[in-house]
Amino acid sequence: MDVQSLHEKFFELYTKKDQVCRTFFAPGRVNLIGEHTDYNGGYVFPCALQYGTYLAVRLNGSDQINFATTNFDQRCSVPAEGFARQDKKWVNYPLGVMDQLVKRGFQMKGMDLLFSGDVPNAAGLSSSASIEMVTAVAMNALYNMQLNMIDLIKIGQKAENEFVGVNCGIMDQFASGMGKTDHAVYLDCATLDYEQVPLVLGEYKIVISNTNKRRGLTDSKYNERRSECESSVESIARTEPVSFLGELTFSRFLDLQHLIPDETVRRRAHHVVSENQRVLDAVKALKESDLALFGEMMNASHDSLRDDYEVTGIELDTLVDEARKVEGVMGSRMTGAGFGGCTVSLVHKDAIDRFITEVGSAYHAKTGLKPDFYLGEVGDGAKEV
Ligand code: GLA
Repeated sequence: MDVQSLHEKFFELYTKKDQVCRTFFAPGRVNLIGEHTDYNGGYVFPCALQYGTYLAVRLNGSDQINFATTNFDQRCSVPAEGFARQDKKWVNYPLGVMDQLVKRGFQMKGMDLLFSGDVPNAAGLSSSASIEMVTAVAMNALYNMQLNMIDLIKIGQKAENEFVGVNCGIMDQFASGMGKTDHAVYLDCATLDYEQVPLVLGEYKIVISNTNKRRGLTDSKYNERRSECESSVESIARTEPVSFLGELTFSRFLDLQHLIPDETVRRRAHHVVSENQRVLDAVKALKESDLALFGEMMNASHDSLRDDYEVTGIELDTLVDEARKVEGVMGSRMTGAGFGGCTVSLVHKDAIDRFITEVGSAYHAKTGLKPDFYLGEVGDGAKEV
C-alpha cells in the first residue's frame, strides 16, 4: 500500500480531516548468516527488507487508543491507561511497545492508529518486529521522547518477550531499527556493537524462498533450544568461568566440550559456537568480495542447523537441496527460527528465473506445497516517511 492510499483509508476510518496524521515505516528482515546465536551473545548478520509495516497515527484528544489495520478486519479500542493483552493478537505488538514506554515513565494519550503491512505473513521475515519498531519510532516522535534507536530496539524486544510472550533475541528488532539500504548489519549481540557493512553482491541477488509450511511448533521448540544452550553453559561453568556460548572461540569450545555430558546438548552448543565463527568468516569474505566463500559459509550454516541444531525439517531441507542443484547458486540456507518459514539463497541474476522454475517444481513434487519466491531487496531501517 502506498502512503497516499494509507492516508485515504485513515481519513475514511477516523474522519476529522483537519487533524493531520504522521506516517512511519519499519521493515521486516532476512538474516544472511548467524542463526540462533543472538540469544547466546553471539554474532548475527541480517539485513532489512523493503517489505515492512507502515503506520499512520495522530493524537485524537480523547482517552481512547484506536487500532486498525488494512491487513484484516480487526479493529480494537483500549483506554490510554492500564494495558491488558487483547484477543486480537496483532494488537498485542503495538500495545506491548506502549506498555514498555509507560513502564519507563511516559504517558500515553488517546490516538488513532492505522497499520498496513506487506511482509509475507508467518514467513519468518519478522513482520512482528516491524510492527513493534514502527510503533516505537512513531511514539518516540509523536511524544517527543528523545529515545535513541538502540533504546527503541530494546523496547521492541521487551514488548515481544513480556507482553506478547515470545522469548526472542534482539536480532529482528535490531535489523528493523538499524538496517540500511544495500547494507547488512553485523551485530555483536553481547555488546550491541554493530557495523553496517556494504552488501556488494556484484551479479548476485538475494532470493528468499518461502516453504509456506504452517509453523506450528516453532515457539515451543525455540524455547527448548534456548534451554539446551543454557544447560550447556551451566555444565561448562561448573569447571570454567563461562557465562554464555558467544564468549567461546571454536578451539576453546573443543577443549571444553567434554564438560557437557549430554550428547544432544553438546551438538546444540557446537552449532552455536561454529556458527559464530562462520559469521566472522562470512563478513570478512564479503568485505574481500569473496562471494564464493560467503556462499560456502551459508551452506555450512544450514548443514549445522540441520544436523547439530535440528531446526530445519523436510520443507527447508528440500528447498535448500534443490537450490544448491541450480547452476548459478552460490549458497543457500534456512533463515530465521526454522521449522518452516523461509530460506535465503545467493543467486546469479541470470539464473533467477530458472531457480524459481526448478526449485519450485521439485519442491512441489516432494512436499505437495507450493513455495513463494521474493527478491530480497535491501531497504532502510525504521523511520518517518
Ligand atoms: C527468531 C528470533 C530471533 C533469532 C532467530 C534465530 O527470528 O526472533 O531473535 O533468535 O529466530 O536466529
